[in-house]
Amino acid sequence: LPIADSIRIRSGSGDYDVLFASDLASIAEGLSTMDKAVVVIDQTVHDLYRERMRDLLDRYPCYPLPATEEEKTLQGVERLLGFLQERQCGKESTLVVVGGGITQDIATISAHIYYRGIRFAFVPTTLLSMADSCIGAKCGINLHGFKNQIGVFHSPSRVVVCTRFLDTLSAIDVVSGYGEIVKLALTGSLADFEDLERTVDREGLRGESLPRLISMALRVKQAVIEEDEYEKDLRRILNYGHTFGHALESVTRHAVSHGVAVAWGLDLVNYIAVARGLLGQAHFDRIHAFVRRHFSPHMSSVPDLDDLIAATRRDKKNRAGRLTLILLEEPGRLKVHYLDYDASLRETVAAYLRLA
Ligand SMILES: NC(=O)c1ccc[n+]([C@@H]2O[C@H](COP(=O)([O-])OP(=O)(O)OC[C@H]3O[C@@H](n4cnc5c(N)ncnc54)[C@H](O)[C@@H]3O)[C@@H](O)[C@H]2O)c1
Ligand SMILES: [Zn+2]
Repeated sequence: LPIADSIRIRSGSGDYDVLFASDLASIAEGLSTMDKAVVVIDQTVHDLYRERMRDLLDRYPCYPLPATEEEKTLQGVERLLGFLQERQCGKESTLVVVGGGITQDIATISAHIYYRGIRFAFVPTTLLSMADSCIGAKCGINLHGFKNQIGVFHSPSRVVVCTRFLDTLSAIDVVSGYGEIVKLALTGSLADFEDLERTVDREGLRGESLPRLISMALRVKQAVIEEDEYEKDLRRILNYGHTFGHALESVTRHAVSHGVAVAWGLDLVNYIAVARGLLGQAHFDRIHAFVRRHFSPHMSSVPDLDDLIAATRRDKKNRAGRLTLILLEEPGRLKVHYLDYDASLRETVAAYLRLA
């Protein structure tokens, strides 16, 4: 079967399907018939897959873009909008977006504002975008050197996941995608985490069960966003691991990739949760061992305590000078906590850094 499986996502702006295509040739079929479309594609993906994606790329105007954080800005959005205007793209056109999170973010905001909104279909090509960012309708672009400052919610009309793209993805981008998968497995249940742990320890990171892990991650995220699509409350738990993760990315000037930082960040807040009597030691030990085995080798050094804590103060979720953390009470149960920046917090983080 070319289209192996599907998930229907309920959304305030229209439900949409995530289809799983078993090969590149069935992607065009999964996208179904579109009269008018423009393909927005990651330049690297375009160069690697041009021949194998001829049916799509020869049929519609094609806009290759560099997947860089510099392009993920108002200037990058304006360049794409200019292309749509030049190609006389109208209200009835669909943007077919092929790439990872960067391409997705630039295209989502563009599709939201061009003619006050046009449809877009997404074909994720990185593990992070397949297992996490392809659903949920969020996007963020950078402003004056600060990440993800501007954004909108705009649902895709269709998502087609094809794991064949992962054959060419770099090892570090694969590990990075796993950071979000670990987060979502722990958000799901102990069984989801155990399945992830068993599968990866047995098959490695690019094993044959990867489509099942992607599906698991998407179903966990689905349950959260269907309940709280616009992040009024529950959806905040998807920030598990991200406060210290973002802080680590920032103090290392992005030498540590996003997913590796998230895995490390969730291990650190688990340590805080144990110290506060919220999470059992046995759960911590098991998750910690997994993070050490698969993510720690991708971290070059331990960050400085003061730099790290200072970096968390810029977190958008903080309220009234208190640190907002999503803490695990057991796999499948996360809660929002507000912590004071006091000596006890500092000592716990210091103790965690000594562990590493
Ligand atoms: N909108 C959201 O919900 C959301 C969620 C998480 C992250 N993000 C954003 O996504 C970005 C990170 O996205 P990402 O990790 O998906 O990667 P990416 O889009 O940054 O791509 C990573 C690298 O892989 C290359 N690449 C992509 N697909 C490839 C393939 N199949 N083969 C070979 N090379 C390939 C790209 O050219 C790029 O060099 C960040 O800017 C982050 O802020 C957005
Ligand atoms: Zn993330």
